[in-house]
Amino acid sequence: MTAYLWKRTHTCGSLQVNAIGTVAVLMGWVDKVRDLGGIIFIDLRDREGVTQVVVRPQRDGTVINQAKRVGTEWVIAVRGKVLERSKGTINPNIATGAVELDAETIQILSEAKTPPFAIEDNIKVSEDLRLKYRYLDLRRKRMRQNLATRSCLALAARRFLEQQGFYEIETPFLTRSTPEGARDYLVPSRINKGSFYALPQSPQLFKQLLMISGMERYFQVVRCFRDEDLRADRQPEFTQIDIEMSFVDSDDVMNLVEGLFVEMLGAVGIDVEIPFPQMSYGEAIDRYGSDKPDLRFGCEIVDISDTVKGSSYGIFEQVLEEGGAVRAIAAPGCARYSRKEIDVIEAFVKEQGARGLGWARFAEEGVKSPLLKYVGEHRLKAALSKAGGTKGDLLLIVAGASHAASTVLGALRLKLARNEGWLPEGGHQGEWRFLWVTKFPLFHYSKTEKRWTSMHHPFTAPQPEDLKCLESDPGSVRSLAYDLVANGSEVGGGSIRIHRQDVQEQVFKVLQFSEEEAREKFGFFLEALQYGTPPHGGIALGFDRIAMLAAGGTSLRDVIAFPKTTSAFDLMTGSPSPVTREQLGELSITVKKPK
Ligand code: AMO
Repeated sequence: MTAYLWKRTHTCGSLQVNAIGTVAVLMGWVDKVRDLGGIIFIDLRDREGVTQVVVRPQRDGTVINQAKRVGTEWVIAVRGKVLERSKGTINPNIATGAVELDAETIQILSEAKTPPFAIEDNIKVSEDLRLKYRYLDLRRKRMRQNLATRSCLALAARRFLEQQGFYEIETPFLTRSTPEGARDYLVPSRINKGSFYALPQSPQLFKQLLMISGMERYFQVVRCFRDEDLRADRQPEFTQIDIEMSFVDSDDVMNLVEGLFVEMLGAVGIDVEIPFPQMSYGEAIDRYGSDKPDLRFGCEIVDISDTVKGSSYGIFEQVLEEGGAVRAIAAPGCARYSRKEIDVIEAFVKEQGARGLGWARFAEEGVKSPLLKYVGEHRLKAALSKAGGTKGDLLLIVAGASHAASTVLGALRLKLARNEGWLPEGGHQGEWRFLWVTKFPLFHYSKTEKRWTSMHHPFTAPQPEDLKCLESDPGSVRSLAYDLVANGSEVGGGSIRIHRQDVQEQVFKVLQFSEEEAREKFGFFLEALQYGTPPHGGIALGFDRIAMLAAGGTSLRDVIAFPKTTSAFDLMTGSPSPVTREQLGELSITVKKPK
C-alpha cells in the first residue's frame, strides 16, 4: 500500500495551459472512469474542480492495473505530466478543459463503497437520503458552492465589523431561558439535580449586559436554539449575526447594517444598493398584507370600501357597518382563470380566515362577476382601476376586519406570485429588494392569553413620544424596533432598547409580569440596569436566511452543513435518540412512556 504520501502540487481546478510540460501531482476523488479498452480516462475531482487524467496503454502494467481497479469516489493520487489536449477533445465547460494529466503513477489512498446516489448536481433522489449521507451530498458541486458562499459571507461580515470597531465576544450556551417567545431547549444539570439550563434562543440579555459592561460595540456569529414549528425558513438551531451598540439611535444601527450588507454580499459578487427603503408596519400591512413585504412584484392591496359603499351587496354593507373594510388586488393577466381555478382561490382565502371571496373577471368580452348585479359594473371598474388593474386582470376582493382582510390578500398575493411565476430566480442573477419595516406596535393583544404581549421582546424601547400612553393605551404605543426584509424574507430584527429601569418596569406591568415573576426571570438583568446603563440598541441578522438568498437556495437546509429535517430530526446521526437508564439515573430523570 501507500509507502508515503506525495505532496500535492496542484488542485484539480488549477491546471491550465501554462502548466503544460510540467510534472504535477493531483489528489482527489474519482468522479468518473471511462475504460475505452486500450486507454483509460479518469475524471479526478477535488474541492476546486475536475481534471481529466489519462492512462495510456503503453504505460507500465502497475499504473494500468491501478487505473482498472479504481471505482467512483475512491480517493487517489496521480503523478504525471501535464499535456495539451488535442483540438477535438478540449472541454470548454471546465476550467481545466484544455489540459489533461498523463498518469505515470497512481496511488490509491482509499477505496470507496458504491455511494447510494450519484455525486452530481440535479440528482433525483429524496432529501431524506441526501441528509442521511450528508457527507456525500456535500461532495456535490452545488452544495460545496453553497457552503463556500456561506463561509465567504461570514468572513466578510467579521472583517467589516472588526473595521467598524466591534469586539467579537462569545456568550454562554448553557444559560437561562431568554425572552424570544419560542419554546426553550432544556439541558438537565447533573450536579444540580432537578435544575435545567436553557439553550439560548438568542444572546439578547447577554449582549445588553455587555453594553452595561462598557464594551460599546459587540458582535457574535452565534448559534441560537428555538423549539418551534419548523418550515423551510426555520431550523431549530440557526445562526445569527448578533450586534449591539451603545450611544446610538435607530439610524446608526440601520446605517451600519446597510454597510455590512454591501460588504457581505459584495464579497460574493452581489451588488447592493443603499440606503434601503423604509416603510412603517401599518403601511406594510395595508399595502402588502404582511410585515415582510416582497417588493419584487406589484399586485398591491387597495382599500375599495369607499368605491363599493352603497351597493346592494349585503356582506359588504354589513362589514362596513361593523367598521371593517373591503380590500382588493388586481391579479395581472388572470382574467383567463376558470371557475374551477377561482374556486381553488376561494378555498385558499377561507383557509386563511376569510368569510368568502368576491371576484370579477375583466375579459375582452366584458366583465364577469357574481357581484355584477349587486355592485354594478361601474363600481367594479372603479375598483379595478383603484387596484391598478386593466383589461385581462382578475379583481379579487376580501371583506372583513381591515387587518385581517389585508393579511388574507397578502397571503393570496404571494400564492399567485408563486403560481404565476412572477418571482425572479434568486442568488447572483436575482433581484434583491431590501426593506426596513419600522414603527411596529410595541404590544399586540393575545386573545388566547387575554393580555398584551411584546411584538418583539420586552426589552424593546417605546417611541419616546408614545411613552405617555404606555399604561393608558398600550395598543397605540409604537416601538423603536426595525425589521430588515429581503425579497419577502425577514432577514433581521432589532431595536433600540429600554435603558431606564422605570420604563422597563412599566413595560413589565403592561405585560402583566408580576414583580416577582420579572425578578425570577430577569432579576439579574433588572439589577444590572441600575448600575449605569448606556442608551443602546442592536439587531440580529438571520445568517442562514441571508446565505440561502445569496446562494439562490429555497430552503435553509441548502446552506447548513448538517441541518435537521422539518421534524427536528438529524437523519445522519439519528438524533434525538433515547439515552441509557444510567444516564437518566445520573440526572435523576425518569421518562414516562409517550402516549
Ligand atoms: P429575532 O427573533 O427577530 O430577533 O431573530 C433575528 C433573526 O433571526 C432569524 N431567525 C431564524 N432563522 C432560522 N431559523 C429560525 N428558527 C429563526 N428564528 C429567527 C430571522 C430573524 O429576523 N434578540 C433579537 C434580536 C435583537 O433584538 O437584537 C432576535 O433574536 O432572520
